[in-house]
Amino acid sequence: MGDDVDRDKKNQDYKILVVDDDPLILTNMERLLAREGYRVDRAESGETAMDKLRDIGFDLVMTDLVMDRVDGMGVLSFAKGLYPDIAVIMITGFADMKTAFNAIRLGADDFMLKPAESEEIYFRVKRCLESRELKIKVNQRTLELEDLNRQLKKDITQRKRAETKLQKTNMALSDSLSKLKFAQDKLIQSEKLASLGGMVSGIVHEINTPIGIGITASTFIKQLISKMEKNLVNETVDVQAIDKLLKKTHEAAAMIHANLGRAGALLENFKQVSVDQISEIPRKILVDEYINEVIASLSVELKHSPHRIVVNCPQNLIFDSRPGALAQIITNFVMNSVTHGFEGMDQGEILFEIHADDTTLYLNCRDNGKGMGRDAVKQIFDPFYTTRREKGGTGLGLYVVYNLVTKALSGTIECVSTPGRGTEFKVKVPLNGWMV
Ligand SMILES: Nc1ncnc2c1ncn2[C@@H]1O[C@H](COP(=O)(O)OP(=O)(O)OP(=O)(O)O)[C@@H](O)[C@H]1O
Ligand SMILES: [Mg+2]
Repeated sequence: MGDDVDRDKKNQDYKILVVDDDPLILTNMERLLAREGYRVDRAESGETAMDKLRDIGFDLVMTDLVMDRVDGMGVLSFAKGLYPDIAVIMITGFADMKTAFNAIRLGADDFMLKPAESEEIYFRVKRCLESRELKIKVNQRTLELEDLNRQLKKDITQRKRAETKLQKTNMALSDSLSKLKFAQDKLIQSEKLASLGGMVSGIVHEINTPIGIGITASTFIKQLISKMEKNLVNETVDVQAIDKLLKKTHEAAAMIHANLGRAGALLENFKQVSVDQISEIPRKILVDEYINEVIASLSVELKHSPHRIVVNCPQNLIFDSRPGALAQIITNFVMNSVTHGFEGMDQGEILFEIHADDTTLYLNCRDNGKGMGRDAVKQIFDPFYTTRREKGGTGLGLYVVYNLVTKALSGTIECVSTPGRGTEFKVKVPLNGWMV
């Protein structure tokens, strides 16, 4: 019986109060329990027991049932009233068995018949202390669980509240997102309108001159003819006069032709400026084949010029986008190199170098023409910037190219040029980032 009551506590950690009005029994019990290591105190009456219980915290009380004045039942209810967890063992003679059962009903933890064997006493004391220990632990756990439960409930309520708040914030966010999108669409729309407005006034300004010249020239022809008519009536016309009239009319007609041509070109290019209206459906092309076809179709414009065009492109490269935009870009590059870069040159060379990685198509176009100064490069993509205005240039070619690359194909373009050392255009286009 020398074992500990449980793994944590030793017998000496327990305090036991033995209550009996028979000092002999009391001494005997005290000795027995002390031998097992318990700390034992004694009370020779119910009253003394109550006093001691009030002062010292006991783990277990062993009390005789039948005593004068305060009996075992009194000690029991007093002890349990003070410490609900305290273990109480009633000791009684056989004749009091009924009362002993009652005591158990009223909260006693065990009872023993007198005289009790020491082994039985040890066993019951140990069992009572163990079950008391267990009860205390269960109570503690229950309290902890209740605490946890309360915390959990609080957490759940808080989380639910946070969730609701989050949902509300989410809704507010998506609401402001759609408002923002709406505002952005409006802004883009008004930006488009603004730039269209700028373009319209630019085109009006540009077209004004050739139309004005055309009107002046046609008025001049009209005046020449009226004068000729009068002279015919007066019969004062000679061959020299007719010759002069024809010469002047020819000059004026050529002027009208050139200027109407320029006005027409301006309008034609102006149509291409609004790339939004490109209704071409995206499709897959073999880039190498397609670029060569575009260049071949330019042979009429190039009038079999002596210049050389080289295309370096992987044969299996596929571009899944709007090929029409690509064709227009290539055409403008070629025509610009020929008309501006190679002006007064016998043999120019244009080199197209194309390659792609996982995400991007790279298209470089380089000529070995006369190139441009830094100021010219800065303005090259501006609408109406041209150095050939008098020869019919509109200055819209590269503006259209810029719009096609950046808007229709969602890419980027840059120009590098040095006077006397040619011009290079570098275009980068995301492989499936075209405008839908
Ligand atoms: N490859 C080039 N070499 C030298 N100068 C160039 C080259 N490409 C363009 N430029 C310069 O940029 C100007 C603007 O070119 P852009 O294509 O926009 O208009 P343009 O060719 O003058 O007119 P249009 O395109 O109506 O014929 C040209 O007038 C020319 O001065
Ligand atoms: Mg051009």
